[in-house]
Amino acid sequence: MEHYGLQTAAGHLTVAAESKEPYADDVLAQLHDDAEQVVARYPQKRSALLPLLHLVQSVDGYVTGRGIDFCAEVLDLTTAEVSGVATFYTQYKRHPNGEFTVGVCTNTLCAIMGGDQIWDEVSEHLGIGHDETTADGKITLERVECNAACDYAPVVMANWEFFDNQTPDSTKQLVDDLRAGKDVAPTRGAAKVCSFKQVSRVLAGFHDGLADEGVGAGPSSLRGLELAKDRNWTAPNGKHAAKADGDAGTAGLAPGRSSSTDTPSNDADEQAGSKPAEGK
Ligand code: FES
Repeated sequence: MEHYGLQTAAGHLTVAAESKEPYADDVLAQLHDDAEQVVARYPQKRSALLPLLHLVQSVDGYVTGRGIDFCAEVLDLTTAEVSGVATFYTQYKRHPNGEFTVGVCTNTLCAIMGGDQIWDEVSEHLGIGHDETTADGKITLERVECNAACDYAPVVMANWEFFDNQTPDSTKQLVDDLRAGKDVAPTRGAAKVCSFKQVSRVLAGFHDGLADEGVGAGPSSLRGLELAKDRNWTAPNGKHAAKADGDAGTAGLAPGRSSSTDTPSNDADEQAGSKPAEGK
């Protein structure tokens, strides 16, 4: 049995045995084929690091030592550079992850709408804390700092699918259903929650055909748009349109400040195939 989040007495996570074992030949060949497709999408191959780390997770279930070696070799990076990225973003897991990552939002809005209570009860129900995994390897529980769905607070995510307007009981039912192997439908999005490895492959850029399933924006997200239409509100002109009509769009702004509808136009600092400038 795998050790999910096994920790030493000092609290440091131990490295799972397979983390450094070489990939089987067929697995490695498939990884190289997939990586080639991902790298081809970017002007510079180092830009493919984020999707490649997801690709590693789609195979290993987390970012293994051998996965870091693979990314470094394919992208001509050092393992330190790859590790630096893999340990920065919380979507990358550095120890075996459960089949479902369940993220309870405990950021301000969700917290006051019941997120803290959900967290307390689900954590106790599962007997695990933040970034820990149930012994059956099914659920990894996380505190999340805003699921970007505040209009449905309190929000829980399972493998980044939305479960809106949750309660402690509905979330306990959710994790029980996931552990029991039932198909679970999120409030919005695809018809069922896929496994962590499946979702990781999608995040690596290999579509599963489910992107257009289900509801995208729900009623709460569209409410402002409906009000604006009812009342004939329109957005102020942006910078470029403002130039054409006498700068009306930026009237009243301090010099050098953009209006909220201006999009800064950054000039590309690198051209396809070029090397980054020194010091960047
Ligand atoms: S505060 Fe919970 S989704 Fe934003």
